[in-house]
Amino acid sequence: MSDSNPSIRIALVGASGRGQSFVDNARSAGYTMAAICDWNKERLAECQQKEMAESYYDNYEQMLDQAKLDAVLISTPMQFHAPQATLALQRDIHVISEVTAAVSIDQCQELVRAARKSKAVYMMAENCNYLRFVQFIKGLVTAGLFGELYYAQGAYVHDVKWLMELTPWRRIWQSGVRGVTYSTHSMGPILAWMDDDRVRQVCCADSGSHYKDPRGEPYACDTSVFLARTVKGRLIQIRGDLVSDRPSLRFNTYQLQGTDGCFESSRGGPGDQDKIWLREISRNRDNWLDLETLMSLKAFEQYLPDIWRNPSEAMTRAGHDGTDYATLDRFARVIRNEIANPIDIDCAMDMTLPGLISQQAVSGDQWLEVPDSRQWTI
Ligand SMILES: NC(=O)c1ccc[n+]([C@@H]2O[C@H](COP(=O)([O-])OP(=O)(O)OC[C@H]3O[C@@H](n4cnc5c(N)ncnc54)[C@H](O)[C@@H]3O)[C@@H](O)[C@H]2O)c1
Repeated sequence: MSDSNPSIRIALVGASGRGQSFVDNARSAGYTMAAICDWNKERLAECQQKEMAESYYDNYEQMLDQAKLDAVLISTPMQFHAPQATLALQRDIHVISEVTAAVSIDQCQELVRAARKSKAVYMMAENCNYLRFVQFIKGLVTAGLFGELYYAQGAYVHDVKWLMELTPWRRIWQSGVRGVTYSTHSMGPILAWMDDDRVRQVCCADSGSHYKDPRGEPYACDTSVFLARTVKGRLIQIRGDLVSDRPSLRFNTYQLQGTDGCFESSRGGPGDQDKIWLREISRNRDNWLDLETLMSLKAFEQYLPDIWRNPSEAMTRAGHDGTDYATLDRFARVIRNEIANPIDIDCAMDMTLPGLISQQAVSGDQWLEVPDSRQWTI
């Protein structure tokens, strides 16, 4: 790094497998791994042995105060994201936070307050937004090829009962609460496609509870679905299910409908593929096109952003289909004022709040209003 473009000193808090997977990506994206914090001393020793950073802490605030940081990457359990982000923002340390942004409306408000007052950047690490097909669809939508968008569907259907035993916080915050508790992987891409819109109202229902954990305790629910109305009158349907027995070949799935085009992603498994219909391209109305084929055509390269047109070596190596690198690369460019923040604090709230409101709506029969964080007086 040159003096005019010095390396960003970043720390990681939460040195699990997920957290550690960011370390190589951070180095490739030009960061200096200044510190790692984890309150589990064995995890910390493991990182130290692998010489992953300059310094190691078991106390988060001590790390923020001593490690001379520009930025922190928060990869702790969900309930700590907002409090830890708030502590960093109060010290003008840039934050990239794992999803979801917060686990309650109170936490959201405190986080927004800290972000507004801070000189530092807050960005949420919703990696699904950088998936190649998500960005390609966004390119087509922006070029007008979908016409007017009016419906979208997202689902995160992933049997993680086994993971809840390894990470007990998931048993509390994800499968211990009714409603769609982990919705940003679905909401993120949909709101990126509808980037002139946000969710205004939510109603929610679930299918009851048909599974028990190894202690015989029932999970709060199996499938939850919320319906969302947007400010522009569009309809969105989000399904969350973390416990149903079924093959989870591809756990994030999406559908998008416009007046001139529609898209349905694959669920994986025999014969299934991502498919698209565009009035301008498909010869007739019954003619689905294979999305992968369309994306590989030279004439359609223009709809992909640069990071996907010419993916770097680091991007092709990175986990979650390259998006773990893309997330950190975007964050560095935001800090350096090279690009606009793709998931700033209000955008993070737009992705997080509908799920939190669905947790209230599921116990009644009513549509509930979803607050707009831009209107919060703080
Ligand atoms: N975006 C994705 O695709 C994706 C995938 C997996 C996990 N995640 C997110 O990443 C985060 C971590 O998930 P995980 O499965 O690795 O969890 P985990 O429980 O395996 O790891 C969390 C780590 O944080 C440490 N920790 C917990 N509280 C702490 C605190 N207050 N201070 C310091 N260290 C603390 C724990 O000791 C542990 O090492 C979660 O928010 C999860 O939702 C995102």
